[in-house]
Parts: sequence; structure tokens; C-alpha cells
Amino acid sequence: MKITPEPQKSILTKILTKLNVPTEHAEIVADVTLDADLKGFSSHGIGRFPQYIKGLESGTIKTKGDIEIENETVSTALINGNHLFGHYVSYKSMQLAMEKARETGIGMVGIHDSNHFGVAGYYSDMAIMEDLIGLVIANTEPAVAPIGGKIPILGTNPIAIGIPSNKNYVSVDMATSASARGKLMEAVRRGEKIPKNVALDCEGNPTIDPQEALNGSILPFGAHKGYALAFMIEILAGPLVKAAFGTGVTGTATPEEMCTKGDLMIAIDPSKLIDLNIFKDQVDEFINQVKSTDNIFIPGDMEVRNVSKHQQNGIDIDDKLYQQFIDISHKLKIDLENLFTK
Ligand SMILES: NC(=O)c1ccc[n+]([C@@H]2O[C@H](COP(=O)([O-])OP(=O)(O)OC[C@H]3O[C@@H](n4cnc5c(N)ncnc54)[C@H](O)[C@@H]3O)[C@@H](O)[C@H]2O)c1
Repeated sequence: MKITPEPQKSILTKILTKLNVPTEHAEIVADVTLDADLKGFSSHGIGRFPQYIKGLESGTIKTKGDIEIENETVSTALINGNHLFGHYVSYKSMQLAMEKARETGIGMVGIHDSNHFGVAGYYSDMAIMEDLIGLVIANTEPAVAPIGGKIPILGTNPIAIGIPSNKNYVSVDMATSASARGKLMEAVRRGEKIPKNVALDCEGNPTIDPQEALNGSILPFGAHKGYALAFMIEILAGPLVKAAFGTGVTGTATPEEMCTKGDLMIAIDPSKLIDLNIFKDQVDEFINQVKSTDNIFIPGDMEVRNVSKHQQNGIDIDDKLYQQFIDISHKLKIDLENLFTK
């Protein structure tokens, strides 16, 4: 089955509002989720949605109240997300970081007591769209064992950096694990194997079985370097923002548990250091240098290609996911069937 972008957004918004999620929150969740599917991050798109429903049903995602600013300076803030949808909390927090960056050159907003926020790159894109640099990091419940170990202590700790330019979309958005955990969950749902060199089973042996990998651990990307980066993110998105860290992080992949992870949103205004157009031209000039050598991709190209492919051809929905949506539609008494196409 397939679904096209507008129906996807309207389905998700409809389901969430029916579950008492305020319209503004629902629209942001639907937009971030669609962004993931369009960019090809299906592990964090509509396939992740049943997890959010479970979170709402078990009360770990709240629908009432708002975020609170616990402390604030001209360039920093600490946000209590009050367990609202992570997408909404992150959106509002990046908006605040951007406001501060426009005023002081840099805005840094830490978040605790939020929820899973989908794709990190959505929030760095918010900065790019306003000619700011965006940097987003988060920790997650443990999935990655330190190099040499087999017990997961670190999260898949995503990092996204977005940079404005005149001609290119420049964005890296990735987990610091060899694979996002969502890709393993997706492989379990689809009955697929995972690539070699991505994960270990609980005995510490390499595995291509996604369920064994989820019970075991995911390797960091790039050997010790991915581990070292994930280690640092665990602290910057943990103790620094009054969130949990290491084995204390819960609720990012287990929706029945309260989410204790943290996030850090940073926005930088390049115009406070250099003429904005010179900066953006130089970013494009650098990309020309990189691309002049061969048929080379830059960070962000994959997303641009995927967005145009999915806008044209729609987003694939596997049979199991389709059935999950049909079950949700029966439960909530809303008609969704005609929004999916063969
Ligand atoms: N919410 C969470 O807790 C959480 C946790 C982990 C990951 N995630 C999300 O999962 C998604 C997928 O992460 P992933 O690690 O599987 O991504 P990935 O391994 O597919 O890497 C994606 C990044 O690599 C870049 N890239 C790909 N090929 C390239 C090439 N040849 N040259 C240069 N750059 C290239 C892409 O442009 C993109 O920015 C991300 O959106 C991430 O934010 C979220």
C-alpha cells in the first residue's frame, strides 16, 4: 500500500485530535512524521506512529498543559516538557533557541521530561529556513554497548546539524549508532534481516537478526569514534539539561514507560560573525569543490532525492503497518481506508 503526503498528514492529525491531543501539537507531530517519511527516514515516520498511540493510551504522553521555562538568560533556557509530545516540545524549544540566536548570536535550549521527537533534522531545518545554523542532539534509552562491552549503556544518541547556503540543502541527521534503533524495529515488523556489522546479540556475538539485536546491542558507527561521540552526547543531553543518562534513560522506544531522556537545541546566527551572503556563498563554493571530484554526495543530498521521489510516488506502507492503521481506525471509529492506495 501507499499513501501520499497530504492524506498522511490529515490521517495523523485526525487520529491525534480524536485522542485529545490539542490541534497545534497534533499538526506539529504530523508534520515532523511526514518530514521523516519524505526524507527516507521511514524508521521515524508513520511506522513509529503506533508507538505514540501506545504512549497516549498509557498516559506517558500528556495532552494537557504546556512547556515551562525553568530558567532563562538572554542566550539559554531550560525547558520542562511536562511529558507532552516530544515533537511539540522540541519545536517550541528550537523556536526559542532561534529567537535568542537572532538577538545574541547563539541560543541554547535544554529540554527534560519530554518524549520521543522523531527526526532530529526537522528542528535543525527550522534554523536553516531562517538563515541560522541549527544543531540538535538527544539521548535515548540504552541500545549501544561501549566499545569492548556487550551491555547497552548508551543511547542511539542522534545528532543533526543544518547549515544555510544559497544553493544547497546542507544537513547531516543521523544516529551515532551503526543503525537507528527504529530501523531494527522496522526490520522486525517487515520480517527482514539487518546488515552485517550493525549489531551484537546479548552474548556479544555479531547478528543479522533484528530481534536478537534489539535484545542485545547496536554497535556505535565508526568504531571508537561513534562511541566517543555518543558518550559526549549522553552527557550534553543528559546531566546538562537535568535529564537522565545511561541506564537511567527510559521511554524512548518503550512507550509504556515515562520518558526521561533529554535534548539540546542550539541555533547560531552566522551574520553575527560574518556577512551572511559571503558565508552562504562560501558554503556553496566548498560544496562545488567537494562535488568537482566525482559523482559525490554531500550531507543532505540523500534527503533531497528522497523528498522528490516520495512526493512523486507516495510513501510505502507495509502490510503489517497498514493493518495497524486499520485496527486504530476501527478502535477510534474513523474512516481511514480510502486514504491508502495500492
Ligand atoms: N528521536 C530519536 O531518539 C532518534 C534516535 C536515533 C536516530 N534518530 C533519527 O533516525 C534517522 C536515521 O538515522 P540514521 O543514523 O539511520 O541515518 P543514516 O545512516 O541514513 O544517515 C543519514 C545522514 O547521512 C547523510 N548521508 C547519507 N549518505 C551520504 C553520503 N554518501 N555522503 C554524505 N552524506 C551522506 C544523509 O544526508 C543524512 O544526513 C535520523 O533522522 C535521526 O535523527 C532519531
